[in-house]
Amino acid sequence: MNHLLTLAELSLEEVLTLLDEAEQFSRGTHWRMPEPAFVANLFFEPSTRTKCSFEVAERRLGLHVIPFDADMSSVQKGETLYDTIRTLESIGVQTVVIRHPEDRYFEELRHSVHIPIINAGDGCGHHPTQSLLDLMTIRQEFGTFRGLTVAIVGDIRHSRVARSNAEVLTRLGATVLFSSPEQWKDDTNSYGTYVDLDTAVREADVVMLLRIQHERHGEKMGLTKEQYHEQYGLTIAREQMMKPKSIILHPAPVNRDVEIASSLVECERSRIFKQMENGVYVRMAVLKRALQSDERGMHNGYYF
Ligand code: CP
Repeated sequence: MNHLLTLAELSLEEVLTLLDEAEQFSRGTHWRMPEPAFVANLFFEPSTRTKCSFEVAERRLGLHVIPFDADMSSVQKGETLYDTIRTLESIGVQTVVIRHPEDRYFEELRHSVHIPIINAGDGCGHHPTQSLLDLMTIRQEFGTFRGLTVAIVGDIRHSRVARSNAEVLTRLGATVLFSSPEQWKDDTNSYGTYVDLDTAVREADVVMLLRIQHERHGEKMGLTKEQYHEQYGLTIAREQMMKPKSIILHPAPVNRDVEIASSLVECERSRIFKQMENGVYVRMAVLKRALQSDERGMHNGYYF
């Protein structure tokens, strides 16, 4: 079954194939299932980019999107996630996209449900489609990952984006630097080396900024927003330390003037809105992968 739960479960060949497919979709390639197919997006946490871009991707592939509002669903009456998915399966839904606050919510489901699950973010765990769109944006810029230095900056410990990206970028031959306030370092993530922020900014080809994940922890730093920005953010002065061809990424939503100066969000180096655009193509590729091979290994779908 073609679940997409973490990128660590994909070979590099599979990752690169998804990026190639996403590029094809960005150039206008069309792909359809032979019969109308139904998908559902189950979001148990807020989202703008991931939810909306999955929905655009689904509609571009001609899929029928079943509306699902967690607050108005039978989850409110105590239904389990397993029973929700089994219900959708039994009425003909062929793939579910899930965002959930619990780390690795998919661990048991992966063996018990009969349709592919696409992970749209699990707690502090993984965000594979965000990572793929980041990879697509980096490859468009540099043509390769090997030899690049990527600095991931901010609340590393609570970031599923940091976890997904550090693992796959290392496998692809990039060097990962982390820069974080002391209390948000992640001792469990061995894919990067911690450096001070000025070093990270000077050495990186890609500066990837992270939002403070306030919704996952109540930890206060005892700093004002201005103090955080000055000590741990990409200020205008730090942007001027970056190498001439280096770029800025951020998974967004952005807290302007906290992790990044507001005027840098759309500066020449920023690829933040390009990341969002690429998100649609990456999600088209991921949906195609999920739908095209059913439980019997039969291949569905066709280009036209
Ligand atoms: N980057 C990201 O996952 O954004 P949303 O939370 O808005 O989906």
